Amino acid sequence: MISFYLNGKRHELTQINPNTTVLEYLRLHEGQTDTKEGCGSGDCGACTVMVQRLPNASQPALNDENGDEKNVTPPFYTVNSCITLVSLMDGHHLMTASYLADNPEHHPQRALLHPAQQAMVECHGSQCGFCTPGFVMSLACVYENNRMQTNQEIASQSDAKQLSYDEVVASISGNLCRCTGYRPIIEAGLLMSDIGQQREAEQSAVKDLTISLATDAMASTKESIVSEHVPAETKLNNAESKAIAPAISDAGRQLYMPKSLDELNQVLAAYPQATIWAGGTDLGLSVTQHLVDHEVIIQLSAVEALKSWSLLDTKSDSSNEGSDNEQAPSQKLVLGAGMSYQQMLPVLEQYLPSFAQVFERIASPQIRNMGTIGGNIANASPIGDLPPILLALDASIHLRHCAPNREESDNSNDIYTDEIIPLSEFFLDYKKTKLQAGSYVVAIHIPLMHDNQHLFIHKISKRYEDDISACLLAARIDVSADGMTIENAKLGLGGMAAIPLLATTCQQALIGQAAEIASFEQAAQVLSADVTPMTDVRASREYRSHVVQRLLVKCGKQLVAGRQTETA
Ligand SMILES: Cc1cc2nc3c(=O)[nH]c(=O)nc-3n(C[C@H](O)[C@H](O)[C@H](O)COP(=O)(O)OP(=O)(O)OC[C@H]3O[C@@H](n4cnc5c(N)ncnc54)[C@H](O)[C@@H]3O)c2cc1C
Ligand code: FES
Ligand code: FES
Repeated sequence: MISFYLNGKRHELTQINPNTTVLEYLRLHEGQTDTKEGCGSGDCGACTVMVQRLPNASQPALNDENGDEKNVTPPFYTVNSCITLVSLMDGHHLMTASYLADNPEHHPQRALLHPAQQAMVECHGSQCGFCTPGFVMSLACVYENNRMQTNQEIASQSDAKQLSYDEVVASISGNLCRCTGYRPIIEAGLLMSDIGQQREAEQSAVKDLTISLATDAMASTKESIVSEHVPAETKLNNAESKAIAPAISDAGRQLYMPKSLDELNQVLAAYPQATIWAGGTDLGLSVTQHLVDHEVIIQLSAVEALKSWSLLDTKSDSSNEGSDNEQAPSQKLVLGAGMSYQQMLPVLEQYLPSFAQVFERIASPQIRNMGTIGGNIANASPIGDLPPILLALDASIHLRHCAPNREESDNSNDIYTDEIIPLSEFFLDYKKTKLQAGSYVVAIHIPLMHDNQHLFIHKISKRYEDDISACLLAARIDVSADGMTIENAKLGLGGMAAIPLLATTCQQALIGQAAEIASFEQAAQVLSADVTPMTDVRASREYRSHVVQRLLVKCGKQLVAGRQTETA
């Protein structure tokens, strides 16, 4: 069974096609048409809804190596309901535009629009209106997170932090509006904090406007409005249900939601052909665009170990063998494959800040809230952004192969074998990897960089945010202690070939050379020995060749500029 709150009412589902998206559930099953469908592929944001993980959720929070919850992810987040499976709402409160409004069904005591809605009215932020609910949800989300953060940091709400222009623009970067030119919507985003503060100063229904308070109250109530999808006789007690029982099923379709690695190993050994579902930001399109009706889905979202991270001392780590980095640093960052971009961000900001910087260029807030590192790698898309960066960082990948037909074994260790291999050995051919039926990615191991290593990442896409790469260059340049000689170079390329790869000839051309721009100019000349780029709708072969050469030279300029800043 999955259970969640929808606009304040509890829903419990057992019998429903696991391929059902949140949008389909809202509009077709519940008749709630305030959430709109535009593209159906995660691009336009019209279908954006807001989600909050409930305090007693079965879904894990972000944990560190000691299992302590890290309070780093904001409580509210947005998702594209069109490509998000309804099963991913398990343990969450799902909110749509009608929940924010003066809706007697949801808030009998509330007499006002949400500040995000009021601001959209006052700034004329809606024209065709089709995209408007999505914008309102994105704005309401940044408003509520800001409000909660402010309330935690300072007692007085009247000192609430104003949202900046950049914060507002970032919050709506996954929403497309083709008619307002964005200006009125950005103005609305800047105005909404004022509206909220003015109301608080006037003490008009302050508590009723606080979605977080409403949600906390809901999480502690026993009220249960069971959806019509749950015939009384099929209601399951979670605690009593066997690990191997599907969470939801319908007409031969099943979805399993293991809660631990042991359960995942067992289910995968039993169903090696199942579709492994992480955030679904790639897979969701198989349902909405290619009309695939997945028979057996194994959803990873409740496996806490896959959402954890840790630091590993590489001296005791056999996976370090084979690394060609002579100056191997002493620690590796181990990121669980199920960590979303949003969950990884604070960890990378702390340990690999130059990696973290590229995240604002990856997809949109809605996608970054759901999409995972494991999904980005396992999907093996030639234009995935993380693989070329991870290749440049000499990352390794922890794979687990669960053996079919051995699920009866008493010892759960008997049903799988593990291997940790350099990521460069993982990609075999276009969309082909070392993953077999019954295999999954457990974690990614990234060596931390030392002071003489520098990482430069350049992504080229037609739109700054919410757009996939035409090409991406990630360059890790290791220099000598005096900074004057290039001792090692790793150049990861994305969007250039059938698989993400390292430009090994180019790398060799850099090693041993002076850490000067001329060395990069020279190395750029041999790039064609490493790759003959493709031509597609995003860019021509000639453009890709030229732009990556120039990006490499740009890395050289950044290296030299950094050295000059350090010595200044
Ligand atoms: C609008 C939009 C914009 C996007 N922009 C970008 C972008 O800028 N850059 C970019 O790189 N990508 C982008 N993507 C692609 C996508 O968001 C990422 O690839 C994301 O990281 C996929 O992760 P996921 O958890 O959603 O994967 P899913 O969709 O759940 O899975 C993808 C594949 O990986 C497999 N898989 C997932 N986890 C595991 C695991 N642990 N072990 C084994 N197999 C696994 C699944 O079976 C499936 O084959 C975009 C997608 C959309 C819809
Ligand atoms: S309908 Fe366009 S993102 Fe969902
Ligand atoms: S108001 Fe609908 S596209 Fe802008």
